[in-house]
Amino acid sequence: MTVQQQIDAYLGEQAGLETLRFITCGSVDDGKSTLIGRMLYESQMILDDQLSELERMSSKIGTQGEDIDFALLVDGLSAEREQGITIDVAYRYFATDQRKFIVADTPGHEQYTRNMVTGASTADVAVILVDARKGILEQTRRHSFIASMLGIRHVVLAVNKMDLIDFDRAVYEDIVDAYGQLSDQLSFTSVTPIPLSAKCGDNVVNRSTRTSWYQGPTLLGFLGAVDTRKALINHGFRMPVQWVNRPNLDFRGYAGTVLAGAIAPGDELRILPSGETALVDRIILGDTDLETAQADQAVTLTLDREVDISRGDVLVAAKDPCETSDQFEARLVWMAKDSGFHGRSYWLKMGAVTVNATLSEIRHTYNINTFEEIAGRSLELNDISVVKLSVDRPIAFETFEECPPMGSFVLIDRQTHQTVAAGMIEFALRRASNVHRQAVTVNKKARAKLNGHAGRVLWFTGLSGSGKSTIANLLERKLHKQGFCTYILDGDNVRLGLNRDLGFTDADRVENIRRISEVAKLMVDAGLVVMTAFISPFRAERRVAREMFAKNEFIEIFVDTPLEVAEQRDPKGLYRKARQGELPNFTGIDSPYEEPENPEFRLESADSTPDRLAEGLLRELNLQIDE
Ligand code: ADX
Repeated sequence: MTVQQQIDAYLGEQAGLETLRFITCGSVDDGKSTLIGRMLYESQMILDDQLSELERMSSKIGTQGEDIDFALLVDGLSAEREQGITIDVAYRYFATDQRKFIVADTPGHEQYTRNMVTGASTADVAVILVDARKGILEQTRRHSFIASMLGIRHVVLAVNKMDLIDFDRAVYEDIVDAYGQLSDQLSFTSVTPIPLSAKCGDNVVNRSTRTSWYQGPTLLGFLGAVDTRKALINHGFRMPVQWVNRPNLDFRGYAGTVLAGAIAPGDELRILPSGETALVDRIILGDTDLETAQADQAVTLTLDREVDISRGDVLVAAKDPCETSDQFEARLVWMAKDSGFHGRSYWLKMGAVTVNATLSEIRHTYNINTFEEIAGRSLELNDISVVKLSVDRPIAFETFEECPPMGSFVLIDRQTHQTVAAGMIEFALRRASNVHRQAVTVNKKARAKLNGHAGRVLWFTGLSGSGKSTIANLLERKLHKQGFCTYILDGDNVRLGLNRDLGFTDADRVENIRRISEVAKLMVDAGLVVMTAFISPFRAERRVAREMFAKNEFIEIFVDTPLEVAEQRDPKGLYRKARQGELPNFTGIDSPYEEPENPEFRLESADSTPDRLAEGLLRELNLQIDE
C-alpha cells in the first residue's frame, strides 16, 4: 500500500467507527486529568513532539517525581496549570480500533454545575471519580444527581488511587456499597464500579496484576463496549425537517438528521403536527441513493406525493408516531445569572422548531446535596427544577425517558438571545379536562357597538412617584365626561385586594403584572378603556402584556420622571424609608426599573403639569365615540 492508500484506509476505518461521548466528574484532586491523560497516552494518541515536551515539563514542574505527569497533558502546559484549576469545559478526542471517543472534562467546583451541564448534555456515560482514600463525598452525590437529572443512563464509579491503599479490596467494596445506596435513589440503567490507578495505569487501559480479586472490565474496555445506541436505533423513526430542499420544480427533498429509528424506501411516514401521511420514495446522501438510513445519519428524503411540510415539522413512523402537545412538565437546569420567574415567557428551541413558551408553574427545585424537593418562586443559576411550560402552538415531542433527542430543548431569553436553561420533557400535560372556551353570542364587537367605542388598554409605566396614577386619574375624568366606559387598575388598590398575597420581590412583581394583564384583557373584552397604573418594572412582562392584545389595543405610556425628581416628591414617604433601609426591594433604589424602548407615548412629567400631560394624551390618543 502506498502512504496515501494507508491514510485513506485509516480515515475510512475511522469514519465507520461509532462515537462514544462521556464526561468525567470529580473533585479537584481526584485525578481526572491524570486519568484522561493516561487514556490518551495508552491509546497512543500523543504525537512524538508532544511526548518529549511532556517528559521535559514533567521533570520540571510535574508532581510525579521522575515519572510522567499525565495531568500536564490534559491541563495544558501553561497558564491554566499555574492557576491550579481547569476552568470551562475541555473536549478531548481519541480513538481505539473499536470506537472514537469524545470526553468532556468538567471542573469539580460547585459553581461550575453549568459547565457540567454543557459537557453532560450530550454524554452517553459519566465517569464519576472517587479518591479511594476519601470515599464518597458530597461532590460525588452532587455529580451523580446532576448526571442522572441530565439523563445520563450509564455510570462508571472509578475508584481511583487504589495504589495508595495497597489495592485493598475491603476498602474498595465499602465504597461500592456506599455508592449503591446513593445510586438506588437515582435513575441509572447501569453502574459499573472499577478499581483503578490513573497514575500507575492499573485497570485504565490494561488489566492490573495487582487486583486479581477484580473480574470486571478495564475502564477503556467498558467504554469501548457499552451499548448506548441500540435503544435509539430500535426506536420508531424520528426526523425533524431542518431544511426543505427545492432546487427546481421537479425535486422536493426534506433534509435533516435522523434522531431515532431506521427507514427504507416504501416506509410510511406521518408528518407532525399536521398528521398527514406519505411514503418514502428516495433516501439521498450527497449524490447517492441509500437503501436505509438510521439514527445519527444526516440525509434528504423524498416522498411519493406532494404534502405540505415546512422546517420544524417532524417526520415519524406512521404506525408509531409521537405525541404533540402545547403543555409539558419538564426538568430544567437554569444556566443564567438572571433569575427565571413563573409567568415569564421565553423562546423554546427544540431541534429545528422555536416557539414561545411561558413558565406556567415552578413546581419545585432540588437540593442537589440531599435530593430533597424545595418550593421556590424563582429559578436561580445552577438550579435543577421541575416546571410546567406552555407553548403557543403544539409541537411534536417525546419524553426524554423514551427518546432523549426528541425530549430535550433549551430556553432562550427573548431580549438577550442567551440560552438560559437546558430542559428535558417529563410528560405532556392535558389542559384541565373538559374545560373548553364557551362560545358566547354577545362578543367584543357587539359590546363595542353598544358602547359606541372599542376597548383599549392604556398601560402606564414608570417609577413610584412618577405620576402614573395622577395622570391616569385626570385622563379618566376627561374620557368619562366624553362618554367613554372606563376603568382604572391602580397598583396600590389592586394590591389591597386581588394581589393582596404579593410583595415586591422580582417574582412577585412578575406575578402582579401577569394577573393585571389578564384582568385588563377581560376588561378590554368587556369593551372598557382600561388604564393600568403599575410600576411594571420589567420589559419582559410588559412585552407579554402587549402580546395578549390586538395590535391597536395596547398603548404603552412611559411616565418618564428622573429618580431624583420622584424621590424629591416622595408622596408617600417611601423613598425616605427605602434610603434608610427600612423598605427593601424598592424600585429605583435596590430593585431595577427597565425603561421601555418603544413606548407609544413618553411623558416627561418633570417639565409639565399632570393636567397638561393628560390633556395632551387625550388629544393624541384620538379616541372616538360613534354617534
Ligand atoms: S410593580 O412593580 O409590581 O408594578 P406596583 O405598581 O404594583 O409595583 O406597586 C407599586 C406601589 O407599591 C408603589 O407606588 C408604592 O406605593 C408601593 N410600594 C411599597 N413597597 C414598594 C417597593 N418595595 N417598591 C416599589 N413600590 C412599593
